[in-house]
Amino acid sequence: MSDKKVKRIGILTGGGDCPGLNAVIRAVSKSGINDHGMTVVGIEDGFEGFVEGRMHELSRTESSGIISLGGTILGTSNKGDPFHYPAEGNNGIEIVDASPRTLKHYKGWGLDCLIAIGGDGTMHISNRLGEMGMNIIGVPKTIDNDLEATDQTFGFDTALSIATEAIDRLHTTGSSHHRVMVIEVMGRYAGWIALQAGLAGGADITLIPEIPFSWGAVFQKVIERSTRGNRFSIVCVAEGAKAADEGIVVKETDTKRTDPIRFGGIGEHVSQRITQETGLETRVTVLGHLQRGGSPTAYDRILATRYGTKAVELAVQGKFGLMVSLRGLFVTSVPIAEAIAHQRLVPVDGEIVKSSRAVGISFGDE
Ligand code: F6P
Repeated sequence: MSDKKVKRIGILTGGGDCPGLNAVIRAVSKSGINDHGMTVVGIEDGFEGFVEGRMHELSRTESSGIISLGGTILGTSNKGDPFHYPAEGNNGIEIVDASPRTLKHYKGWGLDCLIAIGGDGTMHISNRLGEMGMNIIGVPKTIDNDLEATDQTFGFDTALSIATEAIDRLHTTGSSHHRVMVIEVMGRYAGWIALQAGLAGGADITLIPEIPFSWGAVFQKVIERSTRGNRFSIVCVAEGAKAADEGIVVKETDTKRTDPIRFGGIGEHVSQRITQETGLETRVTVLGHLQRGGSPTAYDRILATRYGTKAVELAVQGKFGLMVSLRGLFVTSVPIAEAIAHQRLVPVDGEIVKSSRAVGISFGDE
């Protein structure tokens, strides 16, 4: 807790974008500027802009009328970790510690605190910047919903709605052509989007990273459906899903990223194996960044606004090193260090998995 009155708040959006970021920026600006007479400094392109000192004071008009806007008006990057910063050196790109430079900008711009909106990568970096003396408040975002310390990150609900709608659409075309329709959704190491979109969209098979699948069980399920007269199947695959005897399917590795691994390709793999082994006709859809783009749902706009106003409340109270968090019906806060200790994965014997099984969804494990 700090006694110093907060007058200047820095705000950045780090990592991959997601719907609802602008709603947080708007909430912080409106509440900070209008209610508390603060100045809000928008840092451009996440930590990359922070290292480079690219920031500007946000005007009232800039942060107005953006609650329904996807993306982030500040820009973002998942390559700017100040502690492993890719800088131009004598021998090409070198990884350097740019955190002292970042602290210099923090002080130079007269910031009293930083509101960092991001996922686990952003929270890890924020925690370390906090240890260097910056006053940090975290706001959890990610479509992956994989932060343990909050019941829900904003962005997830929108991604889930988009994935569910996509499955609905695949149903009609899949059933018309009697095909096995495979859809690959995002989520990295967590299967939340696949699990819940599979349930909401009525998938027949859902494959998630937390439950390694057996090829035999997948083939059996689609064949069973086909011989029973259900001449199509929907297979919802999380990008991080893997067969029990195989590793995750990686699209590429890029060491400049906070998480070097780029997922992608499991949908195609599943689709090809089903065709080879069962002879059934398959089609694959990779939903990709459609899950992250566009307007946030009402739920995400509201959650993002609640997070933003809570973050300003914490700043006013001089409470730092905390991340705002949803617990049940209430927005509260938890130490950032605690928030990053565990990734929130799907509990394999949790209620949503059980409910999915009860309505006949196979996870490819039995
Ligand atoms: O973490 C959010 C996320 O959308 C993941 O679900 C996905 O694996 C990754 O980001 C994609 O990152 P990029 O936008 O860098 O391709």
